[in-house]
Amino acid sequence: MKKRTLVDGVQVLGAVDWSRRLFDSLIPLPDGTSYNAYLVRGSGKTALIDTADPTKSGILLEQLADVDRVDYLVANHAEQDHSGTIPRVLERYPEAMLLATPKGKGMLVDLLCVPEDRIRTVADGETVSLGNKTLEFLHTPWVHWPETMCTFLQEDGILFSCDFFGSHYATTDLFVRDKAAVYEAAKRYYAEIMMPFRMAIRKNLEKVQPRLVNTIAPSHGPIYDDASFIIEAYEDWVSERVKNEVVLPYVSMHGSTEKMVRYLVGALAERGVRVHLFDLVTTDLGKLAIALVDAATLIVGTPTVHIGPHPSVFYAAHLANALRPKLRFASIIGSYGWSSKAIERVTALIPDLKV
Ligand code: FEO
Repeated sequence: MKKRTLVDGVQVLGAVDWSRRLFDSLIPLPDGTSYNAYLVRGSGKTALIDTADPTKSGILLEQLADVDRVDYLVANHAEQDHSGTIPRVLERYPEAMLLATPKGKGMLVDLLCVPEDRIRTVADGETVSLGNKTLEFLHTPWVHWPETMCTFLQEDGILFSCDFFGSHYATTDLFVRDKAAVYEAAKRYYAEIMMPFRMAIRKNLEKVQPRLVNTIAPSHGPIYDDASFIIEAYEDWVSERVKNEVVLPYVSMHGSTEKMVRYLVGALAERGVRVHLFDLVTTDLGKLAIALVDAATLIVGTPTVHIGPHPSVFYAAHLANALRPKLRFASIIGSYGWSSKAIERVTALIPDLKV
């Protein structure tokens, strides 16, 4: 796609990755994704905010073909889906200074071999004037790496948030139009990479809110012209509130664990408890992660394989532990033929859950 105008002097660049189905060889992307970059032209200077995944460098450079000068290249985040085209942009614009947090500078040097003298670090709250437009840098660590920041365009009230508030959602919509679809994609994104840093994200939410954010322009997914939609969703996800819901991932080999699971699901349903049931043989682990955002209870169902749990249960339990959801209760059910240590071994996999 060509550059599109967000507001006067601000254009949306980058690429929609319609066919990508896996991120970090781990995270399912059922709806693809996008890598958004933003060109901000002030009366005096021009800044490019973020770049694109290296697989899409050509698209970004083509969009920049008629841009003669870039004074500042802002790296909100050093992960390659946003930083991967930085070396080529710096090569094309030898006058451009790369702006990053101090931690970001170290990462950009280490990961991309950017020469140190091309990088200027920006302090939390520091501003850079482009003439009639002002960029303010807000350090927002741990969304989801330690170096992450947001860039706020003061005059237009636009927060360029990079991963923060993002969604893996490929669309031609410039702005969020299908709210239900974007809500699910943004919640999936939060669950998979942000949830372990819930407390840091809560602080960062408090930090960006007083900026009276009109528009949130993330580097994945469509732009929020109604910022309250995603801010309220994040407030809910990072809160201490849990719902009386059960997340029940399980595997059954010969049907006995399945029988227990089905009985339990029925009994919970009769009592008005919502159950999210996942047969781990076929499930989308992103859906499991989404369900873990709100649920009070995790119940793991497993048969016994070579004394321990089924290998798919190992994987799901390890993942649930790593995502650190705000669960209150956990339970393990299952079956065995002659001997089992499945319960002890699953318990040992979830030491970080405060249940
Ligand atoms: Fe979209 Fe953490 O990169």
